[in-house]
Amino acid sequence: MSREKSEEEVNQYYENMKRDLVGPLWHDLGHMVTKEPVHDVEPYLWKWETIRDYALTAGEILEPGKDAERRVVYLQNPSLLKRGLVGYGTHTLYAGIQLLLPGEMAPSHHHSQTAVRFIIEGDGAYTAVNGERSYMERGDMILTPAWTWHEHKHEGTEPMFWMDGLDVGLVRTLAASFFEPYEGGFYPEEPEKNYSAEKLAGGAFAPKGEEKKPGYPSPIFNYRWERAQYELQRLSESQDNEDPYDAYAVEYINPTTGGPADSRIGTMMQKLLPGQDTKAHRHVHSAIYHVLEGKGYTVINGEKFEWAKGDFFILPPWSWHEHVNEGTEDAYLFSINDKPVMEKLELEFGETYKENNGRQKIEKTFEPSAIV
Ligand SMILES: [Fe+2]
Ligand SMILES: [Fe+2]
Repeated sequence: MSREKSEEEVNQYYENMKRDLVGPLWHDLGHMVTKEPVHDVEPYLWKWETIRDYALTAGEILEPGKDAERRVVYLQNPSLLKRGLVGYGTHTLYAGIQLLLPGEMAPSHHHSQTAVRFIIEGDGAYTAVNGERSYMERGDMILTPAWTWHEHKHEGTEPMFWMDGLDVGLVRTLAASFFEPYEGGFYPEEPEKNYSAEKLAGGAFAPKGEEKKPGYPSPIFNYRWERAQYELQRLSESQDNEDPYDAYAVEYINPTTGGPADSRIGTMMQKLLPGQDTKAHRHVHSAIYHVLEGKGYTVINGEKFEWAKGDFFILPPWSWHEHVNEGTEDAYLFSINDKPVMEKLELEFGETYKENNGRQKIEKTFEPSAIV
């Protein structure tokens, strides 16, 4: 076959294509089907004191249930903000820090985003999930799976802070966001308190005749810190249990499926002994970390992110990372991730850093920078 178009005709052809909104794949295939994941999620770190201060000041400005649905200061990824993506920590995940003051309540609502909570400070407040109360204590992880009714009330005496993790970016990309407040403000509460956490604590029991619902959602809403810490203690007693990339780590699971506690947001707690460091790896799933205890740093693509108790940091997708505990005490890192979604879609993939015995060369140290 002959190809006899003049240069001018070919140029005109490409111009016409643009006008008619069609494109030549022979030019663009490499941009669409890239050899590796391409993303614009920046790693970033926020200090706890900064976030706590913003949340406390919000306590002087507005009241949940009156002036706002919730009182939350969210983490904004700088590179995603440049694309107009408000409330994005990573391209899929959101994290916000919620403050509830003594006597306050946040009304019941539900939404198609799934949510997990991680309790940072305070006690005496509870979350009710579909009417079941669960009192929140530091280090607990609480599920409010997609579409479950949830509300918060504070019966204690000190400010209560927790982290909310939602799959905001994912749901927006999939154009699947729905939200509805509960008509009448608060969902009717059932008499049992902390029932879901306790019924599986020393066995598994259900009233005879009760409908058994394996699968979704998890029969446990509140995953207690005490229990996670016990498991990590047990694991860290033997080096055989050490994970080369995450030190000693547990994932929160749904006991009826063996899969992740929440079906879309993965949750993990890892423990690093004093001086312990991990090897670097990278994977498709992204994560948002919260430092429950300890002092150390994480190297992300050659950049050192120094963290201490209470801080938050972003791990973008497909980014080399390793963790180091620099302190004299155990370090505990809690994280949320989008691994369950990547696995369901058969998109999860990872690789290990081979050079330098698995340790990256540190090229720079992170400094927070205000967006101009
Ligand atoms: Fe919510
Ligand atoms: Fe990792």
